[in-house]
Amino acid sequence: ELFDAAAGDREAALAALKAELQADRGSPLAVHATQAVFGEGPLDPPLLFVGEQPGDEEDLKGRPFVGPAGRLFDGALEKAGITRGECYLTNAVKHFKFTPTGKRRIHQSPDAGDIAHYRPFLRREIEIVAPRLVVTLGATALRAMMGRAIPVTKARGEMMRTPEGLPVFPTVHPSYLLRLPDPDSREREYGRFVEDLKRAHREVM
Ligand code: URA
Repeated sequence: ELFDAAAGDREAALAALKAELQADRGSPLAVHATQAVFGEGPLDPPLLFVGEQPGDEEDLKGRPFVGPAGRLFDGALEKAGITRGECYLTNAVKHFKFTPTGKRRIHQSPDAGDIAHYRPFLRREIEIVAPRLVVTLGATALRAMMGRAIPVTKARGEMMRTPEGLPVFPTVHPSYLLRLPDPDSREREYGRFVEDLKRAHREVM
């Protein structure tokens, strides 16, 4: 055990990790982002969700999943019968990566180097929070957890283990659903996403 089981010590360890991340200038993303966005939620949660990176709104507010993808995700959680109190939400990459174009900031996907840079932070965060199950949302999160690129289409909906033996359940990213142009496929994929969330939830209940 790296940490005293007492929750106070772990809250302090989490706060120290958050401060360390906020001061970190080791990634080029830290230069342009407003701030680092750390995870939120209870210790010892049934589920810990790993997203990709903060978006525009998350970058400004300093909180994960408060933008359009977060709102869609909130609705899907509710539909799956999962309460916020059961979830810790965080991201694989902790700074917003974007291209400035006039007044809009266009999301850029993190690359392997970005993922590798934040991986030790994510690992320590998960170690302190100690969830029963890690659910990865999309390819970046799955890569960050597994240490290699795995197609989400193949892995989704099945329990896996990280090289360190941590249980992981992969599914798609909510932004993928927002990007689907056709309403029918969006509805179908949303339904599949909710089913994945239910299955992950059943694994830990
Ligand atoms: N998308 C993510 O992956 N994470 C967030 O926090 C918001 C949007």
